[in-house]
Amino acid sequence: MEQEVERYRRPTRILHWVHAGAFTVLFLTGLILFIPALGVLAQDSWSRVLHRVAAVLFVVAPLIYIPLNWRATWRGVKEAFNWGEDDLGWAAAAPRYYFLCDEEAMPPQEHMNTGQKLWWLLVIVFGVVFLITGFIMWVFKAIAPAGLLQWSVLIHDLAFIAIGPMFLVHLYLSLMHPLMRPLGTGAWSSMWRGKVSVDYARTHHAKWYAKVAKSEEAKSQ
Ligand code: HEM
Ligand code: HEM
Repeated sequence: MEQEVERYRRPTRILHWVHAGAFTVLFLTGLILFIPALGVLAQDSWSRVLHRVAAVLFVVAPLIYIPLNWRATWRGVKEAFNWGEDDLGWAAAAPRYYFLCDEEAMPPQEHMNTGQKLWWLLVIVFGVVFLITGFIMWVFKAIAPAGLLQWSVLIHDLAFIAIGPMFLVHLYLSLMHPLMRPLGTGAWSSMWRGKVSVDYARTHHAKWYAKVAKSEEAKSQ
């Protein structure tokens, strides 16, 4: 059997999938509220109720995960905010890599490449923006000054416009991009089973794989 290496532990994967489900509902119900032509679907306010139920799940899931996995949380947050010269190498190689599947162009990457870090960073930053503005629209609707409510709707909408396309790119890369396959041992497998093949780790995340291999070697001595 092909050798494998662990990329995401079970608690992280559970958080990811709960979050992914909640976010998908938020995204779809948000779309209904956002596009006037879809207003007919918002009748009887079921989309508003669903939006609120998913929002609670979206917020509560990390609140449960973080205290139980604070080391992994801290490592993950550091990863999202750790930017440097290496990221310029990714940016220069990205068009050839993603559009022409030219793997030679891409310099060795860490546990998350720059594109993944960018998505992760946006999730953290916009997650907080959604939370604050959504909370104001939900809890203070009746008492907040009109200006504050209008600003909250506008910022909530801008966050939606910014993160929506990135969400679709994330889906495409996770499921369909030829370089992220096969599903059974590539990107999808890293979040579904927590593991990828050694070959995938070496070709997509060489810097990270070198560290994993070294620590495995040290353990076996
Ligand atoms: C973090 C938790 C979130 C909370 C607490 C929250 C809460 C709310 C609330 C209370 C509304 C007003 C609904 C109404 O008119 O009754 C709203 C609207 C909306 N939400 Fe969220 N939301 C959250 C996350 C999200 C996310 C992740 C997205 C999309 C990816 C999203 C997209 C939208 C959109 C597009 C609207 C319509 C705003 C408008 O009327 O123009 N929300 N949200
Ligand atoms: C609903 C459909 C989604 C699918 C099919 C999906 C799939 C995946 C897969 C396969 C990975 C592993 C990529 C790799 O390690 O190479 C991943 C990673 C990740 N996902 Fe998702 N995801 C979805 C939704 C979301 C949502 C809604 C969020 C955020 C709210 C999210 C946040 C992340 C983050 C932060 C990572 C780690 C960084 C990265 O690899 O991009 N995902 N996802």
